[in-house]
Formats: sequence, C-alpha cells, structure tokens
Amino acid sequence: MLFRQLFDEATWTYSYLLAESEGGKALLIDPVREKVPQYQQLVSELELQLVYAIDTHVHADHITALGKLRELYQCETTFGDQAPVQCASRRVKDGEIIALGHLQLKAIYTPGHTDDSYCFLLTSEKPQMLFTGDTLLIRGTGRTDFQQGDARQQYDSLFNKLLKLPADTLVYPGHDYKGMTVSTIGEEKRFNPRLQVNSAEEYCRIMDNLNLPNPKLMDVAVPANLGCGL
Ligand SMILES: [Fe+2]
Repeated sequence: MLFRQLFDEATWTYSYLLAESEGGKALLIDPVREKVPQYQQLVSELELQLVYAIDTHVHADHITALGKLRELYQCETTFGDQAPVQCASRRVKDGEIIALGHLQLKAIYTPGHTDDSYCFLLTSEKPQMLFTGDTLLIRGTGRTDFQQGDARQQYDSLFNKLLKLPADTLVYPGHDYKGMTVSTIGEEKRFNPRLQVNSAEEYCRIMDNLNLPNPKLMDVAVPANLGCGL
C-alpha cells in the first residue's frame, strides 16, 4: 500500500493520501485548499489517479480542498450522510465501505465533535488504520461546543465505537498541536487524559468546561466548506 501523512503547518491539519500502489487509484482524507499544489505534484510524481476526496466532517479551522480537487481530477467529493453540504457527489452511511482496489475503507459515524463527524477505518491492513478526524486526537478529543457538537454523543462515539476496536489499531488524527503523528487505540485508552473517566457525565463535565476561543478561520471556513471550499 502507498500511504502518506501530509501536514498543513498553518492550521496543524493532517491529510492522508492512500493508494493501492504507485500508479494506482488514490484517495485523500481531509485535504487542505492551500496544499493543492503539493497534492498535484505528488499525484503526478507517483502517477496516481485520484478518485475520492473525503472530508471527515465540515471543518471550522481550515478550508477544504475537495472542490478544487474535483475540478482538477473529477474525483468524488465524499462526505458522511449527515453533512449539511450541497457539494457532495458521494455520501456514505455508517458501516459503508469505500473500496479502492483491494483497499477497504469503512465509514464509522461518530457524532459529537460535530453532528456530521465520521471516522474511517482501513480494514484491509493489519494492523488496521483509523482516521479519526477531530473525534479522537492523540491525548485529546475534538471540542464539542459548536457545529451541533455534543459531548454526550462524543462519549458514546468514543467509548462504544472507537475504543472497542483492537488495541493495536493505529490512530491517525485530523490535527496535532504537539508534533505527534500516530498513536494506537490501546495507547489512547491508557494515556489520553480525556478518556480516563468513569461515566458520560464526567466526560461532559470536562468538555463543557474547556472554555476555548473560536478557531481563527471559523467565520470564513464553515461557509466556504459548505460549498467544498470553492
Ligand atoms: Fe473539526
């Protein structure tokens, strides 16, 4: 398999390029509009055919590259079923598989950070690779205080879906602010401070008292992203 973890240093966003192999069909998860030239270069150098560009949710902190990538490659702009966007050319439901040759990427509906948040599990690799968007971060979790976020739903998504995956499942988050690149479900269960709680109520108390400022780009990014960043 071909796998690249790409970083946007302006917004601390990770994007992920997956393909069967060089010269094969590819997909991008959570691509950033400012990085399109870099994606174009990689796609052409590795002779990839970009067929899907996927957003884990409507982002508030960066502008998505989905619209630009569709213009360039006619790829499917892919969102979860609940995303409040007009520009999706493919929507996935909980449990649905996106196939890319022998690669199988399973959509998992994980509301909480937003009501349209999905994680994507690459089940065809061992260990499995989980792309968590902003639902589960390394030693953190995504905020739940805007875009129909809900701490109780996030608790359910985390504890009843993601943390039930095998301990060796690799966790690739949508952001990292401390230089971490990858973790595992087992590691997060043990060391993620947000997950050391005994009840949903305790989790909600933590999340409801974070008092974070709004993301810098929020007023620009959310409206732009509802139109795939175009
Ligand atoms: Fe987000």
